[in-house]
Amino acid sequence: MTGAASGIGFALSARFTRGGAHVVMADMDGEALDRRAAELTARGARVTAVTADVTDPAAVEQLADTAFDALGGVDVVCSNAGALGPVGQPLWEVPLERMRQVFEVNHWARVLVARALVPRLLKQGGPAHLIHTASMSAFAVGSGSAAYAASKHADLALARSLRADLRGTGIRVSVLCPGRVDTPMVEGVEAPRGAGGDTSVSAEDVADLVWDVLGSDRFYLFSNPDASRRLREHVADIWRHASIPPSAEEEL
Ligand SMILES: NC(=O)c1ccc[n+]([C@@H]2O[C@H](COP(=O)([O-])OP(=O)(O)OC[C@H]3O[C@@H](n4cnc5c(N)ncnc54)[C@H](O)[C@@H]3O)[C@@H](O)[C@H]2O)c1
Repeated sequence: MTGAASGIGFALSARFTRGGAHVVMADMDGEALDRRAAELTARGARVTAVTADVTDPAAVEQLADTAFDALGGVDVVCSNAGALGPVGQPLWEVPLERMRQVFEVNHWARVLVARALVPRLLKQGGPAHLIHTASMSAFAVGSGSAAYAASKHADLALARSLRADLRGTGIRVSVLCPGRVDTPMVEGVEAPRGAGGDTSVSAEDVADLVWDVLGSDRFYLFSNPDASRRLREHVADIWRHASIPPSAEEEL
């Protein structure tokens, strides 16, 4: 579980341990991580805390080794750590380094985790589930959120590619696409203009959703009640603004 010291990652860790799982909780904020891991241990949970920056390839390899050593095998991988980055600034005003940082954690870290864990999962054999936390921002885009939205679109594409590459192996892939979730990430942040999201859910709601679909073939996991409206708007936007040849069926 990456990004386990806060928000959705912590709620997922709590939900999984409540269901009896031993969870390897990873986060780069070692202090917060130790505190949250101790919180779960005090409730009788089995957790192993690993301080790691998941944008660092060596740290991710080490995390994968620790997970397999501590657990003896891995059933579920949640690639969840993320950052919101600059909000309210158009692309050309976002410092390039900030843009790079957002991509590093929201997308590049997912690449590193998949490259480190999937070969081990394949070698292990048997079913497993890889869950990427993307966002509704992988579909709906408002102004002033270029870094975040582009990184989440990239993660959606990565998850879809992994799903295709892993078909028939027993390793399932899902992409979690929350709308607004009440976590420290969005405290005091207004939804980007035009993104259209107006409902929020708790991190615990999101964790329950993920727990319920573990081991199923659900690929797209939407947590917020406005998800269907936002998806319909996304598809309608494509049709409204597309230049597209009529299909053969329509010509008939
Ligand atoms: N909160 C929302 O509204 C919302 C909506 C959609 C998607 N998401 C996604 O959910 C995921 C979790 O977000 P959250 O809301 O729980 O945020 P959060 O800020 O509460 O938690 C994110 C955690 O990730 C950790 N982290 C950041 N960079 C890291 C790195 N390089 N290495 C290791 N750990 C790192 C942070 O220390 C923090 O503990 C993110 O991918 C985010 O984009 C959140």
